[in-house]
Amino acid sequence: SALRHSPRHVSARRSISRPGVARAAVFKVAVLGAAGGIGQPLSLLIKMSPLVSHLNLYDIANVKGVVADLSHCNTPAQVAGFTGPEELGDGLKGVDLVVIPAGVPRKPGMTRDDLFNINAGIVKSLVEAVADNCPNAWIHIISNPVNSMVPIAAEVLKKKGVYDPKKLFGVTTLDIVRANTFVAEKKGLRLIEVDVPVIGGHAGITILPLLSKTKPACEFTQEEIEKLTDRIQNGGTEVVEAKAGAGSATLSMAYASARFVESSLRALDGDSDVYECTYVQSELTELPYFASRVKLGKKGVEGFATSDLENLSPFEKEGLEKLKPELKASIDKGIAFANK
Ligand code: NAD
Ligand code: LMR
Repeated sequence: SALRHSPRHVSARRSISRPGVARAAVFKVAVLGAAGGIGQPLSLLIKMSPLVSHLNLYDIANVKGVVADLSHCNTPAQVAGFTGPEELGDGLKGVDLVVIPAGVPRKPGMTRDDLFNINAGIVKSLVEAVADNCPNAWIHIISNPVNSMVPIAAEVLKKKGVYDPKKLFGVTTLDIVRANTFVAEKKGLRLIEVDVPVIGGHAGITILPLLSKTKPACEFTQEEIEKLTDRIQNGGTEVVEAKAGAGSATLSMAYASARFVESSLRALDGDSDVYECTYVQSELTELPYFASRVKLGKKGVEGFATSDLENLSPFEKEGLEKLKPELKASIDKGIAFANK
């Protein structure tokens, strides 16, 4: 699989050259919305990363307890808490990577777009603070609707004169995590080996799993393709309905986000073999933002796995054409909000 988890390539600057000795923890990460359903388990997983020296937790309330609790774990990252807008700037100073899971989650019957009105304002104000305090940081946007929140963040950063499209990411890792799990289950494959690229966006039909590109190569019947695609596209709704009003995916999301954080930090640390699917500014299609597999390097997005979009199956081609108008509308809505 192109998605490797074991640290292999080590940068000269940060490495300890003796084999078997862990790399030094050097990166400073901030989680905005850290006291929430995603924020808490995500912060725990980031606290376990050997690459993190400082973990800054920000929320509008309830951060102190999370910090006290997490800070007792005997892992290197030093945890600090920041509560409310007046402390946000301090929480962002010197930060290398900001993860944003702040915002309201869905309840049964809602679409992700139903969250737009509340979450757009939250993301806008948080990204403004990022621009003012750590303009070079990588930004991972988890808040929904991701399809619109990333364009909003880009517009905010442009207005502040600090937009670097290589460092702004919509987190779609949960779609890949789900696709890998469901495909491995269905086909009786070893989980660790399965890698299914998922492209497009992060809502309903804009989530397009490329089952024809599954690794290891495997055959699906048309019925399997349709059922798996539908389950991957509606995985979020499956969790929202099971939680019956208590929110949406938090634990699997924290797991997925922690994977994307770790991949990003490995890339920042000089690992030259890091690939992840993510929603970014893109020229792969006529849409200005699009999720696909990208190569991550020290400066962010270093390249696009363009072959992922070649030789699609007829079913995938049709899915790609169908998702474009919906994704475009979500992008335009975000841009319009940011510029109103
Ligand atoms: P939650 O309500 O449990 O937690 C959200 C947290 O954000 C709360 O602690 C809240 O205090 C905080 N918050 C609200 N306004 C804030 C602000 N202005 N500044 C800082 N923090 C603020 O919700 P959750 O379950 O953690 O979900 C968070 C978001 O993530 C939702 O929008 C949800 O739809 C989204 N989500 C995305 C994915 C994905 O795959 N990208 C997956 C799951 C959930
Ligand atoms: C998910 O895919 O689980 C998230 O986007 C949350 C949701 O609303 O479904």
